[in-house]
Amino acid sequence: MNKETEKRDWWKESVAYQIYPKSFCDGDGDGIGDICGIISKLDYLANLGVDVIWISPMYPSPGYDNGYDISDYESIDPCYGSMEEFETLLKEAHARGLKVVIDLVVNHSSDKHPWFLNALEGRHAARREYYIWKDAAPDGGSPNNWGALFGGSAWTWDEKSGQYYLNLYSPRQPDLNWENPSLRREVYEMMRRWLDRGVDGFRMDVISLIAKGNDFSDGPVGKSGYHDPRARIAANPQVHVYLKEMQREVLGGKNIMTVGEASATTLENAVLFSNEDGSELNMVFQFEHMDLDGGETFKWNDRTIPVAALKAVMTKWQTGLFGRGWNALFWDNHDQPRMLSRLGDEGDLREASAKMLATCLLMLQGTPFIFQGDELGMTNMRFTDLAQLRDSESRNAYERYTGDGTFTSEQMLHYISLKSRDTARIPMQWSGEPGAGFTRGTPWMDIHPNHVYINAEEQEHRADSVLSFYKELIKIRHRHSTAVYGRYEPYELENEDVFAYFRVGEEETLFVCCNFAATAVTFPVPERLQSKGTRHLLGNVEGSAYLEEGRLAAYEAVVISTDAKRP
Ligand code: GLC
Repeated sequence: MNKETEKRDWWKESVAYQIYPKSFCDGDGDGIGDICGIISKLDYLANLGVDVIWISPMYPSPGYDNGYDISDYESIDPCYGSMEEFETLLKEAHARGLKVVIDLVVNHSSDKHPWFLNALEGRHAARREYYIWKDAAPDGGSPNNWGALFGGSAWTWDEKSGQYYLNLYSPRQPDLNWENPSLRREVYEMMRRWLDRGVDGFRMDVISLIAKGNDFSDGPVGKSGYHDPRARIAANPQVHVYLKEMQREVLGGKNIMTVGEASATTLENAVLFSNEDGSELNMVFQFEHMDLDGGETFKWNDRTIPVAALKAVMTKWQTGLFGRGWNALFWDNHDQPRMLSRLGDEGDLREASAKMLATCLLMLQGTPFIFQGDELGMTNMRFTDLAQLRDSESRNAYERYTGDGTFTSEQMLHYISLKSRDTARIPMQWSGEPGAGFTRGTPWMDIHPNHVYINAEEQEHRADSVLSFYKELIKIRHRHSTAVYGRYEPYELENEDVFAYFRVGEEETLFVCCNFAATAVTFPVPERLQSKGTRHLLGNVEGSAYLEEGRLAAYEAVVISTDAKRP
């Protein structure tokens, strides 16, 4: 049996970095990150050692969902700069060996997109069928009991034409109708033009939900008062037909990287999306590990992720996709709170826990995505006032749950500080100065007060900083093919504090051991590490007592290499 997956690809060997452009770097002083800001940080990214940057949307947008409501797929929003600047960004990134992946948001458009404005003209409008319209239920209400992710019904009434349109996210984001061949053709043409411009691939927003299927029946209702239809939509096999068509029409034969955001998907579907035969996408983001602390009121609670459950889920995806598909690895992104704040320590052990989490993620199989600021050990923002929030999701949730008395205002702000998308969307902390080196103007979102001590400038030349540690981890991925291709094998899976695993390669086996506990623990040293060829590759504790004494310090992480072959 082969110990490594056979097919080698550059995008498997890459480390990606996600830029949330609004909060990355403001070049012109208007308080909003922009393209010239990104260009000014390309050397920083090249130095970090990443290979690919994924930039969240910079298209013209009314901004209801911070750019994920697009009103023009083929231009740059003036708040970020111009198309010329974007082309310069591509050129400058490529000159440094960095590839640039852009966001493709075609599950829905903005309600201000010309296609939707046309569709609103009436039932016979040319672009009417680019969206999903249904008649009212016999009682005049919405066609079914589906809810929108950002609150309220998934159906919005259009008075003029007397029909409802579907919006799985918000009424400002009407869902596109992928059954319509002209819509698909327009999307493919648009994608081709971006590739011609030189982009190196796409991160495809909620691609798992584009094919809605024919089942528009009611479903079980949750605490929100609505049915969440995402799992049933994601189960519709038609999505694979569309992606295969997209592969034929646009992606095939190009040296690009594609990563699908596969919300609500199953492992079996992910195998199809990221199939080794290359018929659909390269890899997918799955979210099972992100939802482990959810509950009746969705993510709005103070629960944490149980480490044992996290290990079980990661193991399921590591083993389930091995040799069949490919994982995209992440702890956080612009939709998630920082993993450091969820499972690490924001206090004295912040750096140790940031390094431990990075080790655990970057040594798994899959292409790792670092979210801006992870490499500094940035933490969640704490919100004390509704006025600090920018995201409609948290604002709507606040209204809903304080409005009906489910939570008090204090409770809700507490949950928002723990779980909201705004927690990690705050400006990047480049320096300890006012404005955090992010802007010389007034930032669009509050800057975290801890930027005075958590910032890139302070960490860049400090050998034991989180930033320096990330650089070492990335080097390990680049130098050890086992870190990319080796087979994942969990070790002591039942242990509730330590997440440990082997990566078994042809010539080398890596052992990765991460203590998620805030205290020292004892943990058995595997026999395989008794081999003479065993060496300590990286760790976050000087003078680690693990190999000799089987003891791990609080949040300790070690990466050990051995030439021992699998028994
Ligand atoms: C994706 C994006 C998220 C956005 C949603 C709707 O999940 O990552 O930010 O709100 O899609 O476009």
